Amino acid sequence: MEVSTAVTGRRSIRMYKPDQVSRDIIQEILEEARWAPSWGNTQGWEFYVVIGDTLEKFKEANLEKLQTGATSSPEISMPEKWPEKPNERYTEFGKRLLNALNIPRKAKDLRDELYAKMFNLFGAPCLMVACLDKGISLDYGMLDIGLILQTICLLAHEKGLGTTIMAVSVMYPEVLRKLLSIPDTKVIVMGVALGYPDWNAPANKFERSRANLEELVTWVG
Ligand SMILES: Cc1cc2nc3c(=O)[nH]c(=O)nc-3n(C[C@H](O)[C@H](O)[C@H](O)COP(=O)(O)O)c2cc1C
Repeated sequence: MEVSTAVTGRRSIRMYKPDQVSRDIIQEILEEARWAPSWGNTQGWEFYVVIGDTLEKFKEANLEKLQTGATSSPEISMPEKWPEKPNERYTEFGKRLLNALNIPRKAKDLRDELYAKMFNLFGAPCLMVACLDKGISLDYGMLDIGLILQTICLLAHEKGLGTTIMAVSVMYPEVLRKLLSIPDTKVIVMGVALGYPDWNAPANKFERSRANLEELVTWVG
């Protein structure tokens, strides 16, 4: 697969088939993703690969937190406000997703159902949780995590798998800490769901958008 085909063809998957992903394939993805760049080759990223019964327990506990209205406390704080343009893009994305699923904006019960599916990782059979040692400067460590996460997503796409980088998987980090025995010396940054996409699902087929280059790029010289 051409790199450009992988980059433009990858999309976030929001409905997975129940099929398990073999350990060998997950291992292969991680082996290759290690070649992502990092600050001074520090490779500060660390991953927990969660599958099987442990993943099922995580999904149950994560959903329970949502449904009981527990206060979330992600270790990487979520932005509360965005500048105008990013906020418009976020709203636009939400509309496209809800439209694809035939969910009217005001149908709270249907939106709640969607959130429940999201907290269930859209049925993905694998979650990779990316962590950083607390001794690493968060700003630079986060850049490196971003690079390896995208690398994982592209490699998975090349192998016919789907991924979703999921803030909702780390909104209740205490659940992950307990189930995975993550020590206090690490900060839980982000999770990526992995599995085989259900390509018949409308959530995986709607047209996505991107800002025009004019909005993003200033040519100088
Ligand atoms: C840091 C980060 C967190 C995200 N968290 C979620 C999430 O919790 N739930 C979800 O459905 N998508 C999540 N996404 C996926 C984005 O919504 C998605 O990347 C964006 O809409 C662009 O669409 P695309 O990935 O299909 O190109 C996240 C993406 C990133 C980079």
